[in-house]
Amino acid sequence: MTGSGQTETSVIELLTGGWRAQLARVGVELRIPDLLTAADRTVAELSTRTAVPQDLMYRLMRGLDSIGIAERLPYELGRITEAGATYTLGPLGVHLVDAPGSMRDACLLYGGEFHSAWGNAPAAFGSGSTGFEATYGTELIPYLAANPPAAKRFQSALAATSFYFDLLADALEVPVHGVVVDIAGGSGALLARVLQARPRARGVLTDLPHMVAIADGTFVDAGLTERVTTMPLDLFSGRLPQDADTYVLSRVLGDWSNEECERILTNIKVSMGHESRLWIVERLTRDDGSAPLATLWDLHLHVINGGRQRSIREYQRLAKECGLEIVEDKRLPADNAALALRLR
Ligand SMILES: C[S@@+](CC[C@H](N)C(=O)[O-])C[C@H]1O[C@@H](n2cnc3c(N)ncnc32)[C@H](O)[C@@H]1O
Repeated sequence: MTGSGQTETSVIELLTGGWRAQLARVGVELRIPDLLTAADRTVAELSTRTAVPQDLMYRLMRGLDSIGIAERLPYELGRITEAGATYTLGPLGVHLVDAPGSMRDACLLYGGEFHSAWGNAPAAFGSGSTGFEATYGTELIPYLAANPPAAKRFQSALAATSFYFDLLADALEVPVHGVVVDIAGGSGALLARVLQARPRARGVLTDLPHMVAIADGTFVDAGLTERVTTMPLDLFSGRLPQDADTYVLSRVLGDWSNEECERILTNIKVSMGHESRLWIVERLTRDDGSAPLATLWDLHLHVINGGRQRSIREYQRLAKECGLEIVEDKRLPADNAALALRLR
């Protein structure tokens, strides 16, 4: 004991971190942020609308208040009954409302499939299986391909954690009339932003067939169908458009081992011309503790699909192995970076 119990309290906060994520998930599943967006509400009203008994709803709302999802309106203790306690949307609840750009799906995915997979994290550090496979009996990508609502949640979670995409779209150097190929481009959120910022550029998005269907919807919504082509294409062997100005590989290499990354990069290299640039977008690890999100994501990727995050040195080595070299290194928020590669 330290006397003050400060470090013990910190350990308890650490151990109960997962409870907070689950509490947020319960709130989101009951649509509490949506109910509070429409109006401030009493516990009695929330209880009627969610069918959660009133006394339990009071305790739940107190919990959601403690994590910033709801906020109790000023009250005088003793004068208002529990049923009459009134809540408004809290500062974090704002991001969990069911609306475009919301982190609602991220909350459901992290609190659902990813939480369950982390429940089997020890398997990923011993048995050779991933936590995801130990939980669901299949790997993440086939699971998503067979489960359209989960695939949609996955893409929406990626989109909601892409708050730096506007900065990234500016950072990518695309000629005015350039062609941008977004390889394994997922929902199309990044390519849409790149093309919106460059009205004369054209784009190609490749991904697995179930993802291409989702990306098609993004380009229709963004009014970009005239300037974009989508193609189902395997990362490892698919023939990419030849000699494009810009190829983008955003949040893809982190899912794969070094050997698989070499196969992916070699396949892209075959299509690159001497003026082409390949932009790799990933979190960069650092050994000095200054990139905590990259450190955590490195382990998350390992538990979920056996992937990893890498340091700048590891990317330099990978690039060299594949006959490429890094010519630009632009740092982005949340430990992310955009690295431009060209043929050596
Ligand atoms: C983490 S997501 C990144 C999506 C997007 N680039 C972004 O930054 O939002 C990885 C993407 O790789 C795609 N993918 C996985 N395996 C693939 C393969 N063998 N061929 C093509 N795409 C693949 C997935 O469908 C998914 O869209």
